[in-house]
Amino acid sequence: MMMSESLADRITIPEALVETLRRAEHVVVLTGAGISAESGVPTFREAQTGLWAQYDPAELATEEAFARDPRRVWEWYAWRRQLINKAAPNAGHLALAAMEARVPRFSLITQNIDELHQRAGCHETIELHGSIGRSRCVRCDEITRHWTEGEEAPPRCPRCGGMLRPDVVWFGEALPFDALAKAVAATHDADLFFSVGTSSVVYPAAALPLEAIEYGATAVEINPEETPATVMMDFVLPGAAGQILPRLVAAAWPDWTAPAG
Ligand code: OAD
Repeated sequence: MMMSESLADRITIPEALVETLRRAEHVVVLTGAGISAESGVPTFREAQTGLWAQYDPAELATEEAFARDPRRVWEWYAWRRQLINKAAPNAGHLALAAMEARVPRFSLITQNIDELHQRAGCHETIELHGSIGRSRCVRCDEITRHWTEGEEAPPRCPRCGGMLRPDVVWFGEALPFDALAKAVAATHDADLFFSVGTSSVVYPAAALPLEAIEYGATAVEINPEETPATVMMDFVLPGAAGQILPRLVAAAWPDWTAPAG
């Protein structure tokens, strides 16, 4: 969702939130596809442009789909990978990296598989749904970043020759245990929790904002649309992450200037 500059500029950044951010001990940020929208990476559920409006997730993002037609699933992820490789972190990603550098403790929990947070300079990134930049062997579980796209799709594992699959979480699959455990621990320890660019409908990620609140955190949502989590938030900033986050970080730390763009 791209909002006009003037509309986003009219959204007030509450002084109380700026003060809470300045004083926060452990800031935890949960992100979804919306934070990458301004980098040109499609989200999932937006009516016209969402991936699930154009493709059937059951046909492309499940173990059954991969067993049925591994080439088709691999090539769809190869298409998404080349789209993501052309994308660059946007001002929202960069603002979160600036926030990480300025608060005592910072945890970034992402549902995204595009690695744009890492490319923006975030270090403490918990990938709940894996990463499109890695593949995993279905036979020996080897994780690799090195394969050649060629005639054979999916490519073969460099260690055992088994078939590679994207190292992402498909529908019906369990989340990586370590990532989920780290995400829950961070959420329970947060004093300030942001939910940015997620429709808050896919669990267990969607349960994190409420858990943060139950453990005493101040909760903030940044999203142009309402979500099921909106009603529980302490602060709701109804705008684009790439416009709201830089304004918030610049208000909290005037020495930081939002990237031009
Ligand atoms: P969705 O596509 O469900 O939701 C994207 C959210 O981002 C929506 O609420 C939009 O309103 C919001 N949005 C759009 N543009 C924005 C912007 N510029 N700034 C801020 N917000 C914006 O994507 P997710 O919530 O990430 O799972 O979806 C969660 C999971 O469902 C994904 O990780 C994926 C998907 O199926 C798996 O692949 C396992």
